[in-house]
Amino acid sequence: MADRWVQDHQRDAWRRQAVAEGYRTRSAFKLKQIHNKFSLMLKGDVVLDVGCHPGGWTQVAAELVGEEGVVVGVDLEPTKPVEGARILVGDITDGETQSRVVESLGGRSINVVVSDISPDITGRWEMDQAIAMDLVAKVVDFSLPLLCPGGSFVTKVFQGYGIEELVAAMKPHFSKVKRFSPEASRNSSSEVYLVCVNHKPWVAGEQGPEVVTAMEKAFDDSSPEPVTEMAATGFRVVRKRHEEE
Ligand SMILES: C[S@@+](CC[C@H](N)C(=O)[O-])C[C@H]1O[C@@H](n2cnc3c(N)ncnc32)[C@H](O)[C@@H]1O
Repeated sequence: MADRWVQDHQRDAWRRQAVAEGYRTRSAFKLKQIHNKFSLMLKGDVVLDVGCHPGGWTQVAAELVGEEGVVVGVDLEPTKPVEGARILVGDITDGETQSRVVESLGGRSINVVVSDISPDITGRWEMDQAIAMDLVAKVVDFSLPLLCPGGSFVTKVFQGYGIEELVAAMKPHFSKVKRFSPEASRNSSSEVYLVCVNHKPWVAGEQGPEVVTAMEKAFDDSSPEPVTEMAATGFRVVRKRHEEE
């Protein structure tokens, strides 16, 4: 009970600070804290903000990259305009939305991808985790080829199945892959951010089948039943088969 009170109180404090500083969400401070820790963005950078509604992260990114920078935000929900950003409405896993994102970049490669994407929660924890991890894998597949050498990739993940495999799949592509829990999200949920720094496309090459094997081992299932299509990285999410199924 006391823990719950402390969590609510902390969330309210971040919300009040967001209102006071003109940010649309308390999540804005999560991105600020990730940036402060990892020096993500520079003036003039190109940033893709995936799952941008209602725009808190987009506001922070636009501030950090300044007028010479480009921020493209995309979400299923319409987002009110953010000065200095181009906002798109669409499903990031959809080819047509992906083409519009590429068009918005105007031929420039991306310096930083930030994804705070969260699927709708069904309440079935295992299914929700599988859907969330699949969404992350699809964002990775789409955006990694657009990320410049030396670029960074940040995504929200929920603690649970598939995280170790995701970390292993990202490691060949980046010099550093770290889990980070910003102060603004501590004690509030199982969310954590995966921060991948210094994209090195010249080293990674093709993802082999080791990732799939690692996933199957992690899910400890002799005949895994995929709940989603395999993503091109070779990273896939499988659901544990239960006795009652
Ligand atoms: C936690 S909110 C993002 C908050 C945002 N970072 C901010 O500070 O304002 C997660 C967003 O992910 C979006 N989302 C979920 N699935 C998506 C998809 N397939 N394509 C695009 N956006 C998606 C949701 O609509 C939701 O607005």
